[in-house]
Amino acid sequence: MTPEQAKSLTAIVPVAGVGTRLRPHTHTTPKALLYVAGKPILAHILDDLLALGVRHLVMVVGHMGERVREYVDARYASTELVVSYAEQKEPQGLGHAIHLAQPLTPGGPILILLGDTIFRADFSKLVSGTSAIGVKAVEDPRRFGVVEVEGGRVKRLVEKPDVPPSHLAIVGVYYLTEGKPLFDALDELVRRDLRTRGEYQLTDALQLVIDHGHELKTFPVEGWYDCGKTETLLETNRQLLELAGGAPTVPGSVVLPPVAIEPGAEIVNSVVGPHVSIATGTVVKNCVVRNSIINPHARVENILLEESLVGENAVAQGVFQSLNVGDSSEVRFL
Ligand code: UTP
Repeated sequence: MTPEQAKSLTAIVPVAGVGTRLRPHTHTTPKALLYVAGKPILAHILDDLLALGVRHLVMVVGHMGERVREYVDARYASTELVVSYAEQKEPQGLGHAIHLAQPLTPGGPILILLGDTIFRADFSKLVSGTSAIGVKAVEDPRRFGVVEVEGGRVKRLVEKPDVPPSHLAIVGVYYLTEGKPLFDALDELVRRDLRTRGEYQLTDALQLVIDHGHELKTFPVEGWYDCGKTETLLETNRQLLELAGGAPTVPGSVVLPPVAIEPGAEIVNSVVGPHVSIATGTVVKNCVVRNSIINPHARVENILLEESLVGENAVAQGVFQSLNVGDSSEVRFL
């Protein structure tokens, strides 16, 4: 896909889910706005879309949707991205979210990206004129949605199969040369109330698209960075920071790369890194922090932090110990 072709497509990014697996953070912050590797998850996704040449975006918002809108409208106001919003009042599944995007989506190609996953793919491999599902070969596909491919075409999409028909996991990026067949299939799911595990599934709609005779291929997604739960968010933080490399110099503190520190963060007398993301407005004082994400306006002081996720405006404070330890004694704070 060339930048010219990217200009003519509509990207759809659903972010209406509640994010239960990232509680307590998602009680007060929409999942898409949680930081990872220097900026919110959503900023990674939308910056990548802009770089690709995409100009039209439909976001499906729900849980704390106002916060998402405010963020996107402010950050992308001076860019060429034109954003419209569909509201999903109740999260009834990814298929339902995409269905709600239909009235805001003009005809032509669509690119669907999940709002809690960051991708690195060579989109030039997406041949215009061919609809395709992003996939990645994984060792154990049983935890994922998997595609069965025959003669280069996707024949079947199977959720979490006991006996996987291939090693190709569905990563959550979908390109369709024309949105209509998918929207028609979603209409059918909703009209006939066809749910799987209580929700309208995008994979069920795509299966209908295939069953109705439309060709779907696959395209390889090399980088697939899930942000859906604490462990995967921290792992994504590590991997994206490794890719970006670098770290700023902070007078009076030691910074071990790779680290991302947003302007407006105050780092005092600390050792930060590797793999730390510190957002604006935070104060990090007398700390050793590694492998962690500190969200905006948090305060961490006198503490050793590892594998930690500190929420917006949160406070984490430790103490320095005063010890009088005799010869050959052992004191361990484990
Ligand atoms: P997930 O199911 O992974 O996200 O959906 P979730 O529901 O927010 O999180 P958990 O499972 O409760 O922890 C993947 C993407 O699809 C969006 C989500 O916002 C997320 O970006 N989504 C999902 C919707 O917009 N609406 C839905 O009904 C379901």
